[in-house]
Amino acid sequence: MTPPVPVLQGERVILARLRRDDLPELTRLFQNLELTTYLQGFGVSYSLEDEQAYFESVSRNSPTQVTFGIYERSSGRLIGGVDLRDLNHRHGTAELGISIHDPGFWGGGFGSEATQLMVAYGVFHLGLHNILLKVFSFNTRAIRAYEKVGFRVCGRRTGTVRLGDKRYDTVFMEITADRVDTSALRAQIGLLN
Ligand SMILES: CC(C)(COP(=O)(O)OP(=O)(O)OC[C@H]1O[C@@H](n2cnc3c(N)ncnc32)[C@H](O)[C@@H]1OP(=O)(O)O)[C@@H](O)C(=O)NCCC(=O)NCCS
Repeated sequence: MTPPVPVLQGERVILARLRRDDLPELTRLFQNLELTTYLQGFGVSYSLEDEQAYFESVSRNSPTQVTFGIYERSSGRLIGGVDLRDLNHRHGTAELGISIHDPGFWGGGFGSEATQLMVAYGVFHLGLHNILLKVFSFNTRAIRAYEKVGFRVCGRRTGTVRLGDKRYDTVFMEITADRVDTSALRAQIGLLN
């Protein structure tokens, strides 16, 4: 398979356009019910056809969404995906979605780095002012990762998620442009301040 071509690069991860060749691996990773529960799939697994449909929906440029695959920098292996969706260019707002699909990479700093890269891209290149995300209250690892990047809780919808006999909240988190470090992207194109 041809190596992913980085659009954004961090220490641990690169963000690159998804390749059609990634779909079998994506399908393998999406048989994990814990993963799909965090991602609102709640016990759904995805077939190759589902992943093909997803790929078709994100593989062309769109004014309202930017999607990248997350690849481990050292190996070039696909480990996740990240997007900015509902891009509103008039007001400078969007919603972030992220997943490190491969559980072997959870808790290793890959997700917070990919989030930071995407948020910086959103602020610097897309001119965003406010980026929102939604996360379930039981997903404490995700909440911690987002806090590390600079997201703050800005709201909560109570009891929206039922798992077995328990209910959990949807937590809303936001980051504004003034809290985002874009220095690496500025330096990349020769703007030093
Ligand atoms: C959420 C996600 C993107 C975070 O990425 P990650 O690479 O796992 O996170 P990081 O390693 O960058 O940061 C996780 C932080 O939480 C801590 N952590 C790890 N497991 C934890 C747990 N079970 N509870 C609370 N904190 C935990 C880590 O120690 C780390 O904090 P620290 O650096 O202060 O020690 C990733 O775990 C993931 O994709 N999970 C599955 C899908 C998902 O939940 N997507 C988000 C939907 S909103």
